[in-house]
Amino acid sequence: MKRAVNIEDLRRRARSRLPRVVFDYLDGAAEDEITLTANRRGFQSIQLVPRILGGGTADLSTQILGHRYAAPFLIGPTGLNGIYWPQGDLHLARAAADAGVGFALSTASNMSMEAISAQVDGPKWFQLYPWGKPDFSKSLLDRARAAGYSALIITLDSLVGGKRERDLRHGFSHEIRMSAPVVLDGLMHPGWLASVWLGRSRPRFENLVAFLGDGASDKELADFTRSQRNPHFSWEDVRRIRRQWDGPLLIKGVMCAEDALRARQEGADGVIISNHGGRQLDGAPATISVLEEIAGCLDDGATVLLDGGIRRGSDVVKALALGAQGVLLGRATLYGLAAGGYDGVARALSMLADEMQRTMIFTGCGSTDDLGPHNIARPCRERD
Ligand code: FNR
Repeated sequence: MKRAVNIEDLRRRARSRLPRVVFDYLDGAAEDEITLTANRRGFQSIQLVPRILGGGTADLSTQILGHRYAAPFLIGPTGLNGIYWPQGDLHLARAAADAGVGFALSTASNMSMEAISAQVDGPKWFQLYPWGKPDFSKSLLDRARAAGYSALIITLDSLVGGKRERDLRHGFSHEIRMSAPVVLDGLMHPGWLASVWLGRSRPRFENLVAFLGDGASDKELADFTRSQRNPHFSWEDVRRIRRQWDGPLLIKGVMCAEDALRARQEGADGVIISNHGGRQLDGAPATISVLEEIAGCLDDGATVLLDGGIRRGSDVVKALALGAQGVLLGRATLYGLAAGGYDGVARALSMLADEMQRTMIFTGCGSTDDLGPHNIARPCRERD
């Protein structure tokens, strides 16, 4: 794992270890994948102002929702992490805790929230999908609170699923169907086949087992997940959940000032600017391109986080300079997980921290509090 020097190296290793159907689920996005590309281009088009004699070290630590983290990135919520590596959720959560950064567990995780909290001490958030009837979310929230999850994310950009064409071609929808091409591909990836597919337990949606009983198969749980989508979920439901959850609450999927202000009015503590890594509305702008406007319209007490396309430590610096308090990692740490389990995730986190540290020194920032719009290189006309 030490020979991987950047996130793209981990991505390449993930691609060679995983069968195509699994890699495409992780790597792919909606329709023409324009937004997936836009997220990366958005960061690449921003330039930083180099400063000379910027010292030899920088403090990456940051306060988010009242907790001091070692760095301003956390591992964001992703479902089906067990299809890359056995106990994938646990490796992500452990690596985050060991690095002193946060971790958010998805509703669609492959290990239950109770199992994760029993084995990982670090601060943990729970992500709720707007699925099912009110008693469905109430039961998940009660469990998350009892299991010690400190903050809640509601993801609101997914009332319907994005059209992910790589998955459609493979016939993949929350579970791997054993067609002849999939079996053949699996046989050509024996490391993955032995550990994940023939391993002790097949990945299934463990948070949802409580609704169907312990005997539920991975297929029954995947069918249940699809049946729970609730396209009628509304701001009234957000108010209900606000009443049911007394800890910090963030709305994920916000991409414009109007929705950010509304989220705040309805009692959210903040927003996560996200286009779901380009997996929902293709043609949505890069998250970094809407950050300044959204952060600028919110009050000082609001928490503003961002995700989408973070692959370099300098991306984190750019997001903080433009008004985010922190960022969430999606594919960056998943590539690490798929490439090498815990070691791969730890490697992804340490690469990003190292790159961020260097970038801060090169831009003359000794701490994350020093970051601001002055770090962004703009044409002279805009600076006037
Ligand atoms: C996701 N994402 C996601 N979001 C969420 O709120 N709940 C979930 O269960 C999932 N599942 C999921 C699976 C996979 C494979 C991916 C790639 C993404 C979206 C995720 O939290 C985040 O918004 C994006 O991944 C950020 O973009 P990058 O960093 O992957 O480019």
